[in-house]
Amino acid sequence: TALTLTTAGTMLAGTPGQAAPTGWGRPVVSAAPQPGAPGLGDSYFPDYGNGGYDVEHYDVRLRYEPATDLLTGTTTILATATEDLSTFNLDFLLDVESVRVNGWAATTSTAGAHELVVTPARTVTRGQQLTIVVRYSGVPSEALVNGYTGWTRTDDGALAVNEPESAWWWFPSNDHPLDKATYDISVSVPTGVEVISNGVQPRPPLAEAGNRTRWIWRTTSPTATYLAFMAIGQYDIVTDTAPSGQPVINAYSTSLGALGPAARASIERTAEIVDWESGIFGPYPFEAQGGVAGPVDGIGFALETQTRPVYGPGFWRRGANTYVVTHELAHQWFGDSVSVADWRNIWLNEGFASYAEWLWSEEQGEGTAQEVFDFTYASYPADDEFWQVLPGDPGAARVFDNAVYDRGAMTLHQLRLAVGDDAFFEILPTWTAERRYGNGTIEQFQALAERISGLDLDDLFTTWLFTAGRPEVASAARKAA
Ligand code: ARG
Ligand code: ZN
Repeated sequence: TALTLTTAGTMLAGTPGQAAPTGWGRPVVSAAPQPGAPGLGDSYFPDYGNGGYDVEHYDVRLRYEPATDLLTGTTTILATATEDLSTFNLDFLLDVESVRVNGWAATTSTAGAHELVVTPARTVTRGQQLTIVVRYSGVPSEALVNGYTGWTRTDDGALAVNEPESAWWWFPSNDHPLDKATYDISVSVPTGVEVISNGVQPRPPLAEAGNRTRWIWRTTSPTATYLAFMAIGQYDIVTDTAPSGQPVINAYSTSLGALGPAARASIERTAEIVDWESGIFGPYPFEAQGGVAGPVDGIGFALETQTRPVYGPGFWRRGANTYVVTHELAHQWFGDSVSVADWRNIWLNEGFASYAEWLWSEEQGEGTAQEVFDFTYASYPADDEFWQVLPGDPGAARVFDNAVYDRGAMTLHQLRLAVGDDAFFEILPTWTAERRYGNGTIEQFQALAERISGLDLDDLFTTWLFTAGRPEVASAARKAA
Protein backbone atom coordinates (compact mmCIF):
# COMPACT_ATOMS: atom_id res chain seq x y z
CA THR A 1 0.00 0.00 0.00
CA ALA A 2 1.59 3.26 -1.12
CA LEU A 3 1.15 6.01 1.43
CA THR A 4 0.63 9.58 0.34
CA LEU A 5 0.46 12.71 2.40
CA THR A 6 -2.77 14.61 2.11
CA THR A 7 -4.96 16.66 4.39
CA ALA A 8 -8.25 15.79 5.91
CA GLY A 9 -9.61 18.99 4.40
CA THR A 10 -8.78 17.77 0.92
CA MET A 11 -10.26 14.39 1.65
CA LEU A 12 -13.59 15.96 2.41
CA ALA A 13 -13.56 18.63 -0.29
CA GLY A 14 -16.95 19.05 -1.82
CA THR A 15 -18.93 17.62 1.08
CA PRO A 16 -20.29 20.64 2.91
CA GLY A 17 -22.20 19.76 6.01
CA GLN A 18 -20.12 16.67 6.64
CA ALA A 19 -18.83 16.49 10.20
CA ALA A 20 -15.12 17.21 10.26
CA PRO A 21 -13.02 14.25 11.34
CA THR A 22 -10.55 14.64 14.14
CA GLY A 23 -7.42 16.22 12.74
CA TRP A 24 -9.35 18.56 10.45
CA GLY A 25 -6.92 20.95 8.78
CA ARG A 26 -3.84 19.10 9.93
CA PRO A 27 -1.89 16.90 7.54
CA VAL A 28 -2.80 13.25 7.95
CA VAL A 29 -1.27 10.16 6.43
CA SER A 30 -3.72 8.39 4.21
CA ALA A 31 -3.49 5.39 1.94
CA ALA A 32 -3.66 6.04 -1.78
CA PRO A 33 -7.15 5.29 -3.09
CA GLN A 34 -7.66 1.59 -3.65
CA PRO A 35 -10.26 -0.34 -5.64
CA GLY A 36 -13.36 -1.07 -3.59
CA ALA A 37 -13.70 -4.72 -2.68
CA PRO A 38 -15.84 -6.74 -5.13
CA GLY A 39 -17.70 -8.38 -2.23
CA LEU A 40 -18.68 -7.82 1.38
CA GLY A 41 -17.03 -10.95 2.70
CA ASP A 42 -20.18 -13.06 2.95
CA SER A 43 -19.14 -16.58 3.92
CA TYR A 44 -21.53 -18.19 1.40
CA PHE A 45 -21.56 -15.57 -1.35
CA PRO A 46 -18.25 -13.70 -1.09
CA ASP A 47 -18.79 -11.60 -4.21
CA TYR A 48 -22.30 -10.38 -3.29
CA GLY A 49 -22.32 -6.74 -2.32
CA ASN A 50 -19.30 -4.49 -2.63
CA GLY A 51 -16.91 -2.67 -0.37
CA GLY A 52 -16.10 1.02 -0.10
CA TYR A 53 -19.50 2.69 -0.05
CA ASP A 54 -22.86 2.62 1.65
CA VAL A 55 -26.10 3.19 -0.29
CA GLU A 56 -28.89 5.31 1.19
CA HIS A 57 -31.35 5.38 -1.70
CA TYR A 58 -32.09 3.82 -5.08
CA ASP A 59 -34.18 5.69 -7.63
CA VAL A 60 -35.04 3.01 -10.18
CA ARG A 61 -36.73 4.47 -13.26
CA LEU A 62 -37.61 1.83 -15.86
CA ARG A 63 -39.40 1.17 -19.11
CA TYR A 64 -40.58 -2.37 -19.80
CA GLU A 65 -41.94 -4.09 -22.90
CA PRO A 66 -43.83 -7.27 -22.00
CA ALA A 67 -43.90 -8.32 -25.67
CA THR A 68 -40.10 -8.56 -25.91
CA ASP A 69 -38.92 -8.56 -22.28
CA LEU A 70 -36.84 -5.49 -23.08
CA LEU A 71 -36.02 -3.50 -19.96
CA THR A 72 -34.41 -0.08 -20.26
CA GLY A 73 -33.80 2.35 -17.49
CA THR A 74 -31.83 4.66 -15.32
CA THR A 75 -30.99 3.96 -11.71
CA THR A 76 -29.71 6.77 -9.56
CA ILE A 77 -27.87 5.61 -6.45
CA LEU A 78 -27.26 7.93 -3.53
CA ALA A 79 -24.35 6.64 -1.50
CA THR A 80 -21.54 7.64 0.83
CA ALA A 81 -17.98 6.51 0.25
CA THR A 82 -16.57 4.67 3.26
CA GLU A 83 -13.04 4.53 1.80
CA ASP A 84 -10.89 6.46 -0.63
CA LEU A 85 -11.72 4.74 -3.91
CA SER A 86 -9.98 4.58 -7.26
CA THR A 87 -12.70 2.23 -8.55
CA PHE A 88 -15.74 0.58 -7.03
CA ASN A 89 -18.09 -2.18 -8.08
CA LEU A 90 -21.82 -2.50 -8.53
CA ASP A 91 -23.57 -5.85 -8.78
CA PHE A 92 -25.31 -5.84 -12.16
CA LEU A 93 -25.46 -7.75 -15.41
CA LEU A 94 -27.55 -5.92 -18.01
CA ASP A 95 -25.82 -3.83 -20.70
CA VAL A 96 -24.61 -0.54 -19.31
CA GLU A 97 -24.76 2.44 -21.59
CA SER A 98 -23.20 5.00 -19.25
CA VAL A 99 -22.32 5.70 -15.65
CA ARG A 100 -21.90 9.13 -14.14
CA VAL A 101 -20.51 9.80 -10.68
CA ASN A 102 -21.41 13.24 -9.30
CA GLY A 103 -22.06 14.40 -12.84
CA TRP A 104 -18.77 13.21 -14.34
CA ALA A 105 -18.74 10.42 -16.89
CA ALA A 106 -17.06 7.32 -15.46
CA THR A 107 -15.46 4.45 -17.35
CA THR A 108 -16.78 0.97 -16.80
CA SER A 109 -15.79 -2.62 -17.32
CA THR A 110 -17.25 -5.93 -16.25
CA ALA A 111 -15.78 -8.60 -14.03
CA GLY A 112 -17.15 -12.03 -13.35
CA ALA A 113 -20.79 -12.68 -14.17
CA HIS A 114 -22.42 -9.88 -12.24
CA GLU A 115 -19.86 -7.22 -11.39
CA LEU A 116 -19.77 -3.78 -12.98
CA VAL A 117 -16.48 -2.01 -12.25
CA VAL A 118 -16.81 1.78 -12.18
CA THR A 119 -13.79 4.05 -12.47
CA PRO A 120 -14.85 7.60 -11.65
CA ALA A 121 -13.23 10.52 -13.48
CA ARG A 122 -12.21 11.95 -10.13
CA THR A 123 -10.94 9.93 -7.20
CA VAL A 124 -13.56 9.33 -4.54
CA THR A 125 -12.62 10.24 -1.00
CA ARG A 126 -13.89 8.70 2.19
CA GLY A 127 -16.99 10.43 3.50
CA GLN A 128 -17.87 11.86 0.10
CA GLN A 129 -21.48 11.82 -1.04
CA LEU A 130 -21.87 9.96 -4.33
CA THR A 131 -24.62 10.31 -6.87
CA ILE A 132 -24.21 7.42 -9.28
CA VAL A 133 -26.38 7.47 -12.40
CA VAL A 134 -26.44 4.24 -14.41
CA ARG A 135 -28.22 4.01 -17.77
CA TYR A 136 -28.82 0.52 -19.10
CA SER A 137 -30.89 -1.91 -21.10
CA GLY A 138 -31.25 -5.63 -21.59
CA VAL A 139 -33.47 -8.67 -21.77
CA PRO A 140 -33.34 -9.98 -18.19
CA SER A 141 -34.75 -13.42 -19.00
CA GLU A 142 -31.81 -13.95 -21.35
CA ALA A 143 -29.11 -12.61 -19.02
CA LEU A 144 -27.97 -15.96 -17.66
CA VAL A 145 -25.49 -16.72 -14.88
CA ASN A 146 -24.51 -20.39 -14.99
CA GLY A 147 -27.62 -20.93 -17.08
CA TYR A 148 -29.82 -19.21 -14.52
CA THR A 149 -31.90 -16.05 -14.37
CA GLY A 150 -33.66 -14.79 -11.25
CA TRP A 151 -36.06 -12.84 -13.46
CA THR A 152 -39.27 -14.67 -14.40
CA ARG A 153 -40.89 -13.74 -17.67
CA THR A 154 -44.58 -14.65 -17.83
CA ASP A 155 -47.34 -14.66 -20.41
CA ASP A 156 -48.41 -11.14 -19.55
CA GLY A 157 -45.31 -9.57 -18.00
CA ALA A 158 -42.58 -10.47 -15.55
CA LEU A 159 -41.65 -10.99 -11.92
CA ALA A 160 -38.49 -9.54 -10.39
CA VAL A 161 -38.80 -11.73 -7.30
CA ASN A 162 -36.01 -13.99 -6.08
CA GLU A 163 -33.67 -14.74 -3.17
CA PRO A 164 -30.84 -14.21 -2.65
CA GLU A 165 -30.15 -12.97 -6.21
CA SER A 166 -32.74 -10.65 -7.69
CA ALA A 167 -31.43 -7.13 -8.21
CA TRP A 168 -28.77 -8.07 -10.80
CA TRP A 169 -31.48 -8.39 -13.46
CA TRP A 170 -33.15 -5.04 -12.96
CA PHE A 171 -31.08 -2.47 -11.07
CA PRO A 172 -27.39 -1.98 -10.22
CA SER A 173 -26.81 -2.27 -6.49
CA ASN A 174 -24.71 -3.11 -3.51
CA ASP A 175 -26.38 -6.49 -3.39
CA HIS A 176 -26.16 -7.65 0.21
CA PRO A 177 -28.54 -7.31 3.19
CA LEU A 178 -25.79 -5.47 5.08
CA ASP A 179 -26.46 -2.40 2.90
CA LYS A 180 -30.12 -1.41 3.17
CA ALA A 181 -31.63 1.61 1.46
CA THR A 182 -34.90 3.30 0.61
CA TYR A 183 -36.41 3.06 -2.88
CA ASP A 184 -38.32 4.96 -5.48
CA ILE A 185 -39.34 2.54 -8.22
CA SER A 186 -41.18 3.73 -11.31
CA VAL A 187 -41.96 1.70 -14.38
CA SER A 188 -43.48 2.72 -17.70
CA VAL A 189 -45.51 -0.04 -19.36
CA PRO A 190 -48.11 -0.18 -22.13
CA THR A 191 -51.41 1.14 -20.78
CA GLY A 192 -53.50 -1.74 -19.50
CA VAL A 193 -50.54 -3.48 -17.85
CA GLU A 194 -50.20 -3.18 -14.06
CA VAL A 195 -46.99 -2.81 -12.05
CA ILE A 196 -46.85 -3.61 -8.34
CA SER A 197 -43.85 -2.98 -6.11
CA ASN A 198 -42.95 -2.20 -2.49
CA GLY A 199 -44.42 0.44 -0.20
CA VAL A 200 -47.00 2.93 -1.31
CA GLN A 201 -48.02 4.77 -4.45
CA PRO A 202 -47.19 8.42 -3.75
CA ARG A 203 -49.34 9.33 -6.76
CA PRO A 204 -51.66 7.48 -9.12
CA PRO A 205 -50.29 5.99 -12.33
CA LEU A 206 -49.34 8.67 -14.84
CA ALA A 207 -50.40 8.63 -18.48
CA GLU A 208 -47.39 8.97 -20.79
CA ALA A 209 -47.04 9.50 -24.54
CA GLY A 210 -47.38 6.46 -26.79
CA ASN A 211 -50.33 4.93 -24.89
CA ARG A 212 -48.15 4.14 -21.91
CA THR A 213 -48.61 4.41 -18.16
CA ARG A 214 -45.95 5.01 -15.52
CA TRP A 215 -46.46 3.33 -12.15
CA ILE A 216 -44.77 4.93 -9.18
CA TRP A 217 -43.93 3.18 -5.90
CA ARG A 218 -42.01 4.39 -2.86
CA THR A 219 -40.46 2.60 0.11
CA THR A 220 -39.37 4.78 3.00
CA SER A 221 -38.05 2.12 5.37
CA PRO A 222 -34.61 0.55 4.95
CA THR A 223 -34.89 -2.37 2.54
CA ALA A 224 -32.41 -5.09 1.59
CA THR A 225 -31.81 -5.37 -2.16
CA TYR A 226 -33.36 -8.85 -2.46
CA LEU A 227 -36.57 -7.59 -0.87
CA ALA A 228 -37.25 -4.96 -3.53
CA PHE A 229 -39.51 -6.36 -6.25
CA MET A 230 -41.68 -5.77 -9.28
CA ALA A 231 -44.69 -7.72 -10.49
CA ILE A 232 -45.67 -6.68 -14.00
CA GLY A 233 -48.72 -8.08 -15.78
CA GLN A 234 -52.49 -8.33 -15.56
CA TYR A 235 -53.54 -7.77 -11.97
CA ASP A 236 -56.65 -6.76 -10.03
CA ILE A 237 -55.41 -4.29 -7.44
CA VAL A 238 -57.42 -3.97 -4.24
CA THR A 239 -56.64 -1.06 -1.96
CA ASP A 240 -57.87 -0.74 1.61
CA THR A 241 -56.95 0.70 4.99
CA ALA A 242 -56.04 -1.61 7.87
CA PRO A 243 -57.58 -1.06 11.35
CA SER A 244 -54.10 0.20 12.26
CA GLY A 245 -54.57 2.96 9.69
CA GLN A 246 -51.93 1.56 7.34
CA PRO A 247 -52.54 1.28 3.62
CA VAL A 248 -53.15 -2.28 2.45
CA ILE A 249 -52.53 -2.89 -1.24
CA ASN A 250 -53.16 -6.38 -2.58
CA ALA A 251 -52.88 -7.55 -6.17
CA TYR A 252 -54.23 -10.70 -7.77
CA SER A 253 -53.07 -11.98 -11.13
CA THR A 254 -56.03 -12.36 -13.45
CA SER A 255 -54.47 -15.59 -14.72
CA LEU A 256 -55.33 -17.49 -11.53
CA GLY A 257 -58.79 -18.57 -12.67
CA ALA A 258 -60.19 -21.15 -10.26
CA LEU A 259 -57.28 -20.49 -7.86
CA GLY A 260 -58.30 -16.83 -7.51
CA PRO A 261 -60.84 -17.18 -4.70
CA ALA A 262 -58.43 -19.17 -2.49
CA ALA A 263 -55.71 -16.60 -3.14
CA ARG A 264 -58.06 -13.80 -2.12
CA ALA A 265 -59.39 -15.61 0.93
CA SER A 266 -55.78 -16.03 2.11
CA ILE A 267 -54.14 -12.72 1.22
CA GLU A 268 -57.15 -10.76 2.48
CA ARG A 269 -56.26 -12.00 5.97
CA THR A 270 -53.03 -9.95 5.81
CA ALA A 271 -54.03 -7.09 8.13
CA GLU A 272 -55.48 -9.52 10.68
CA ILE A 273 -52.35 -11.70 10.68
CA VAL A 274 -50.04 -8.66 10.86
CA ASP A 275 -52.01 -7.50 13.89
CA TRP A 276 -51.76 -10.93 15.55
CA GLU A 277 -48.03 -11.19 14.82
CA SER A 278 -47.47 -7.66 16.15
CA GLY A 279 -48.72 -8.89 19.51
CA ILE A 280 -45.99 -11.55 19.54
CA PHE A 281 -43.07 -10.09 17.56
CA GLY A 282 -43.42 -6.39 18.42
CA PRO A 283 -44.69 -3.42 16.40
CA TYR A 284 -45.02 -3.99 12.64
CA PRO A 285 -41.88 -2.36 11.24
CA PHE A 286 -43.10 -0.92 7.93
CA GLU A 287 -45.34 1.71 6.35
CA ALA A 288 -47.69 -0.46 4.30
CA GLN A 289 -49.03 -3.98 4.00
CA GLY A 290 -50.27 -6.27 1.30
CA GLY A 291 -49.67 -9.29 -0.86
CA VAL A 292 -49.34 -10.19 -4.51
CA ALA A 293 -50.87 -13.38 -5.87
CA GLY A 294 -48.54 -14.09 -8.77
CA PRO A 295 -49.59 -15.60 -12.10
CA VAL A 296 -50.04 -19.30 -12.88
CA ASP A 297 -46.88 -19.35 -15.01
CA GLY A 298 -44.79 -17.45 -12.46
CA ILE A 299 -42.76 -18.52 -9.44
CA GLY A 300 -42.84 -21.83 -7.56
CA PHE A 301 -42.29 -20.26 -4.14
CA ALA A 302 -43.36 -17.30 -2.07
CA LEU A 303 -41.09 -14.44 -1.09
CA GLU A 304 -41.28 -11.98 1.78
CA THR A 305 -40.75 -8.93 -0.45
CA GLN A 306 -40.87 -5.98 1.92
CA THR A 307 -44.31 -4.64 2.83
CA ARG A 308 -45.87 -6.90 0.18
CA PRO A 309 -44.98 -10.61 -0.16
CA VAL A 310 -45.39 -12.31 -3.53
CA TYR A 311 -47.00 -15.75 -3.59
CA GLY A 312 -46.63 -18.37 -6.28
CA PRO A 313 -49.83 -20.06 -7.50
CA GLY A 314 -49.02 -23.44 -5.94
CA PHE A 315 -50.04 -22.29 -2.47
CA TRP A 316 -53.71 -22.05 -3.47
CA ARG A 317 -54.10 -25.46 -5.09
CA ARG A 318 -55.68 -27.06 -2.02
CA GLY A 319 -57.77 -24.03 -1.09
CA ALA A 320 -57.16 -21.06 1.16
CA ASN A 321 -53.76 -21.12 2.88
CA THR A 322 -53.20 -18.71 5.73
CA TYR A 323 -50.03 -20.53 6.79
CA VAL A 324 -47.99 -19.23 3.89
CA VAL A 325 -49.34 -15.74 4.58
CA THR A 326 -48.37 -16.09 8.24
CA HIS A 327 -44.91 -17.28 7.15
CA GLU A 328 -44.20 -14.45 4.70
CA LEU A 329 -45.59 -11.82 7.06
CA ALA A 330 -43.45 -13.15 9.95
CA HIS A 331 -40.47 -12.51 7.68
CA GLN A 332 -41.31 -8.80 7.77
CA TRP A 333 -39.81 -8.90 11.28
CA PHE A 334 -37.44 -11.84 10.82
CA GLY A 335 -35.55 -11.29 7.59
CA ASP A 336 -36.78 -7.92 6.42
CA SER A 337 -36.50 -5.60 9.43
CA VAL A 338 -33.82 -7.76 11.09
CA SER A 339 -31.79 -9.18 8.21
CA VAL A 340 -29.04 -11.74 8.06
CA ALA A 341 -25.57 -10.23 8.50
CA ASP A 342 -24.24 -13.14 6.46
CA TRP A 343 -26.29 -15.63 4.43
CA ARG A 344 -24.98 -18.39 6.69
CA ASN A 345 -27.50 -17.03 9.25
CA ILE A 346 -30.52 -17.98 7.11
CA TRP A 347 -32.03 -19.83 10.12
CA LEU A 348 -32.80 -16.40 11.60
CA ASN A 349 -35.20 -15.98 8.66
CA GLU A 350 -36.62 -19.38 7.84
CA GLY A 351 -36.61 -21.00 11.27
CA PHE A 352 -38.54 -18.08 12.73
CA ALA A 353 -41.04 -17.70 9.87
CA SER A 354 -41.69 -21.45 10.08
CA TYR A 355 -42.20 -21.30 13.83
CA ALA A 356 -44.71 -18.48 13.28
CA GLU A 357 -46.76 -21.05 11.36
CA TRP A 358 -46.69 -23.38 14.36
CA LEU A 359 -47.90 -20.55 16.59
CA TRP A 360 -50.65 -19.79 14.05
CA SER A 361 -51.67 -23.44 14.08
CA GLU A 362 -52.07 -23.21 17.84
CA GLU A 363 -54.00 -19.93 17.51
CA GLN A 364 -56.32 -21.53 14.95
CA GLY A 365 -56.96 -24.57 17.13
CA GLU A 366 -55.39 -26.75 14.45
CA GLY A 367 -52.71 -28.32 16.65
CA THR A 368 -50.50 -26.88 19.37
CA ALA A 369 -46.89 -25.98 18.63
CA GLN A 370 -45.95 -29.05 20.68
CA GLU A 371 -48.15 -31.24 18.52
CA VAL A 372 -46.63 -29.78 15.36
CA PHE A 373 -43.19 -30.39 16.83
CA ASP A 374 -44.00 -34.03 17.58
CA PHE A 375 -45.49 -34.57 14.15
CA THR A 376 -42.58 -32.89 12.36
CA TYR A 377 -39.93 -34.69 14.41
CA ALA A 378 -41.56 -38.06 13.75
CA SER A 379 -42.00 -37.36 10.05
CA TYR A 380 -38.22 -37.49 9.50
CA PRO A 381 -36.77 -40.91 10.45
CA ALA A 382 -33.44 -40.80 12.27
CA ASP A 383 -31.57 -41.99 9.16
CA ASP A 384 -33.20 -39.39 6.87
CA GLU A 385 -30.78 -37.13 4.96
CA PHE A 386 -32.76 -34.28 6.48
CA TRP A 387 -30.87 -34.62 9.77
CA GLN A 388 -27.50 -34.27 8.03
CA VAL A 389 -28.09 -30.62 7.04
CA LEU A 390 -27.14 -28.13 9.77
CA PRO A 391 -29.75 -25.37 10.02
CA GLY A 392 -27.11 -23.07 11.52
CA ASP A 393 -24.69 -23.63 8.62
CA PRO A 394 -26.46 -25.40 5.75
CA GLY A 395 -23.98 -24.34 3.06
CA ALA A 396 -24.55 -21.99 0.13
CA ALA A 397 -26.26 -24.68 -1.98
CA ARG A 398 -28.77 -25.52 0.78
CA VAL A 399 -29.85 -22.21 2.27
CA PHE A 400 -33.49 -23.19 1.59
CA ASP A 401 -33.19 -26.83 2.62
CA ASN A 402 -36.14 -28.29 4.58
CA ALA A 403 -33.82 -28.58 7.57
CA VAL A 404 -33.47 -24.79 7.76
CA TYR A 405 -37.27 -24.51 7.92
CA ASP A 406 -38.43 -27.58 9.86
CA ARG A 407 -35.46 -28.36 12.08
CA GLY A 408 -35.12 -24.58 12.37
CA ALA A 409 -38.62 -24.32 13.82
CA MET A 410 -37.96 -27.36 16.02
CA THR A 411 -34.95 -25.49 17.42
CA LEU A 412 -37.11 -22.55 18.42
CA HIS A 413 -39.58 -24.88 20.07
CA GLN A 414 -36.76 -26.50 22.06
CA LEU A 415 -35.58 -23.03 23.05
CA ARG A 416 -39.12 -22.22 24.20
CA LEU A 417 -39.25 -25.39 26.31
CA ALA A 418 -35.84 -24.66 27.79
CA VAL A 419 -36.40 -21.01 28.76
CA GLY A 420 -40.15 -21.10 29.41
CA ASP A 421 -42.90 -19.10 27.74
CA ASP A 422 -42.29 -15.87 29.66
CA ALA A 423 -38.66 -15.63 28.56
CA PHE A 424 -39.33 -16.96 25.06
CA PHE A 425 -42.01 -14.39 24.32
CA GLU A 426 -39.72 -11.67 25.67
CA ILE A 427 -36.77 -12.78 23.55
CA LEU A 428 -38.67 -12.47 20.24
CA PRO A 429 -39.83 -8.82 20.51
CA THR A 430 -36.55 -7.79 22.15
CA TRP A 431 -34.65 -9.18 19.17
CA THR A 432 -36.83 -7.29 16.68
CA ALA A 433 -36.64 -4.08 18.74
CA GLU A 434 -32.90 -4.10 19.32
CA ARG A 435 -32.02 -4.92 15.70
CA ARG A 436 -34.86 -3.13 13.91
CA TYR A 437 -33.81 -2.14 10.36
CA GLY A 438 -30.43 -3.79 10.98
CA ASN A 439 -28.77 -7.18 10.84
CA GLY A 440 -28.08 -10.06 13.13
CA THR A 441 -26.18 -13.30 13.55
CA ILE A 442 -27.13 -16.59 15.21
CA GLU A 443 -24.45 -15.95 17.82
CA GLN A 444 -26.05 -12.60 18.68
CA PHE A 445 -29.46 -14.23 18.97
CA GLN A 446 -28.09 -16.91 21.31
CA ALA A 447 -26.45 -14.20 23.43
CA LEU A 448 -29.78 -12.37 23.70
CA ALA A 449 -31.63 -15.56 24.64
CA GLU A 450 -29.01 -16.25 27.33
CA ARG A 451 -29.22 -12.67 28.62
CA ILE A 452 -33.00 -12.81 28.98
CA SER A 453 -33.26 -16.38 30.28
CA GLY A 454 -30.17 -16.35 32.44
CA LEU A 455 -29.35 -19.81 31.06
CA ASP A 456 -26.31 -21.17 29.26
CA LEU A 457 -27.85 -22.28 25.95
CA ASP A 458 -24.71 -23.43 24.24
CA ASP A 459 -25.63 -27.14 24.30
CA LEU A 460 -29.09 -26.44 22.91
CA PHE A 461 -27.86 -24.28 20.01
CA THR A 462 -24.96 -26.62 19.25
CA THR A 463 -27.18 -29.70 19.27
CA TRP A 464 -30.08 -28.31 17.26
CA LEU A 465 -28.34 -25.98 14.81
CA PHE A 466 -24.78 -27.22 14.44
CA THR A 467 -24.70 -31.00 14.92
CA ALA A 468 -25.56 -33.57 12.25
CA GLY A 469 -27.95 -36.33 13.25
CA ARG A 470 -31.35 -36.41 14.93
CA PRO A 471 -31.17 -34.97 18.46
CA GLU A 472 -32.69 -37.02 21.25
CA VAL A 473 -35.85 -35.56 22.71
CA ALA A 474 -37.01 -36.52 26.17
CA SER A 475 -40.49 -38.00 25.83
CA ALA A 476 -41.58 -35.99 28.87
CA ALA A 477 -40.53 -32.80 27.09
CA ARG A 478 -42.34 -33.96 23.98
CA LYS A 479 -45.56 -34.45 25.93
CA ALA A 480 -45.33 -31.14 27.82
CA ALA A 481 -47.94 -28.74 26.50
N1 ARG B 1 -37.71 -16.86 1.66
C1 ARG B 1 -38.61 -17.64 0.84
C2 ARG B 1 -39.63 -18.27 1.76
O1 ARG B 1 -39.33 -18.64 2.83
C3 ARG B 1 -37.91 -18.71 0.09
C4 ARG B 1 -37.40 -18.33 -1.23
C5 ARG B 1 -36.80 -19.49 -1.95
N2 ARG B 1 -36.20 -19.00 -3.15
C6 ARG B 1 -36.23 -19.64 -4.30
N3 ARG B 1 -35.69 -19.06 -5.32
N4 ARG B 1 -36.80 -20.79 -4.39
O2 ARG B 1 -40.75 -18.44 1.47
ZN1 ZN C 1 -39.46 -18.22 4.51
